[in-house]
Amino acid sequence: MTTHATRVRTSAADALAEKIDRRTARMGVIGLGYVGLPLALTFVEAGFPAVGFEVNHERLDQLANGESYISDVASEDLRAAMATGGFQASGNFDLLGEMDCILICVPTPLSKSKEPDISAIVAAGREIAARLSPGQLVVLESTTYPGTTEEVLQPMFEAGGLRVGEDVFLAFSPERVDPGNPNYVTRTIPKVVGGITPTCTRMTAQLYRAAIEQVYVVSSARVAETTKLLENTFRSVNIGLGNEMAILCRHLGIDVWEVIDAAATKPFGFMAHYPGPGIGGHCIPLDPYYLSWKARLNGYEAKLIGLASEINASMPRHVMQIIQDVLNDCGKCVRNARILLLGVAYKPNVSDTRESPALEILEMLHQKGAHVEYSDPFVPSLDVGTLFLRSVYLSPELLQAMDCVVIITNHKAFNYGEIVTHASLVVDTRNATRGVAGGQARVIYL
Ligand SMILES: NC(=O)c1ccc[n+]([C@@H]2O[C@H](COP(=O)([O-])OP(=O)(O)OC[C@H]3O[C@@H](n4cnc5c(N)ncnc54)[C@H](O)[C@@H]3O)[C@@H](O)[C@H]2O)c1
Repeated sequence: MTTHATRVRTSAADALAEKIDRRTARMGVIGLGYVGLPLALTFVEAGFPAVGFEVNHERLDQLANGESYISDVASEDLRAAMATGGFQASGNFDLLGEMDCILICVPTPLSKSKEPDISAIVAAGREIAARLSPGQLVVLESTTYPGTTEEVLQPMFEAGGLRVGEDVFLAFSPERVDPGNPNYVTRTIPKVVGGITPTCTRMTAQLYRAAIEQVYVVSSARVAETTKLLENTFRSVNIGLGNEMAILCRHLGIDVWEVIDAAATKPFGFMAHYPGPGIGGHCIPLDPYYLSWKARLNGYEAKLIGLASEINASMPRHVMQIIQDVLNDCGKCVRNARILLLGVAYKPNVSDTRESPALEILEMLHQKGAHVEYSDPFVPSLDVGTLFLRSVYLSPELLQAMDCVVIITNHKAFNYGEIVTHASLVVDTRNATRGVAGGQARVIYL
């Protein structure tokens, strides 16, 4: 027999399904950063009205002026979305009560002791819980440890008497955006979806199918959470192997880059991962710790994952050692040497310096008494500890004046021919100058 309560619950899900179908479901996106802003605009593009919720007032002011601070989002596109009334950014969390679907895209950093800091998820969850009403769907997109959606958000949402899967819907769907990658955007990156209950999964999959080309459904939120951590831990472990190969090959006097390029000719069973000065950004250096922390709580110490993170974290010191050694070979020392870092972003063609190895290398060089400067077309200024630096213009005269030029980020915008022509000593941590014509520079590869 169908009870009145069941009929009400069924109609809450049905009503939401219909709103999604008709593109009248109001989207709320909490956290308008690298993930949230493009995501909100993807739903606007698909025909949904969206409100972005942000706590950073500087960002809200910029958005109100139609200015995008995310390089993958053109200000014209932002202004177009705002002009039609399809998108607005707000600091007023009361509007959450008016949303049909809410996507959480807040940061998930590590604490000083390298433990997950999910305080922003908790803060966003509280804002939602205070205004939650039947028929609303909430999806967590922030990368986090397995169990967060079920153990942290579900109890918050049920504390007021609502039942997840019956009255409200809750799921996890990892964000996979790759800032600076022109080949994939939010709409074209397949979306993994796992709900707390089958109804939650169904509602979430329906929502994403309306805006994203491909949706892949998994059996639970925990599986979806762990999928994201596997993807980024895979990167960390393989980059760690690339980095260890670089250190090992240096000891053996073998060119690691040539080895990797040769191995990459194998058409199966090998995927090239390259060494570098260290890993950066908000994902690869952090996410493996989310996974190993949760494993430790459950009695398992992840060994390979921790070791890879350790090797990756040691790379700035390895680069520092190379700089010291090559200066020494030239009869110079780091103290008072003029050293130019090329690129301080953590990866090419973006402005993001979060966790960038350049920051640690810069600080070490400064502490050892070098006169350090940097040039990065994407990063006009940089605050590192006690140092505040502005990007310098890369000219032949500047390159000539340097005792050592260190390539940290292989931005496309750099003229590598000019660099090897005018610099006398180059430490190339990215293999960026390989095969570049011209040049008097002595180039040392990682
Ligand atoms: N950046 C990436 O390439 C990437 C890729 C995939 C997944 N992720 C994951 O997505 C999440 C977000 O990352 P991001 O790079 O967009 O971070 P971000 O720092 O660029 O943006 C997060 C935004 O959330 C805002 N915020 C913080 N607390 C808030 C709150 N309580 N309410 C509303 N807004 C709040 C911040 O002010 C900021 O603008 C993280 O979990 C990250 O690991 C990031």
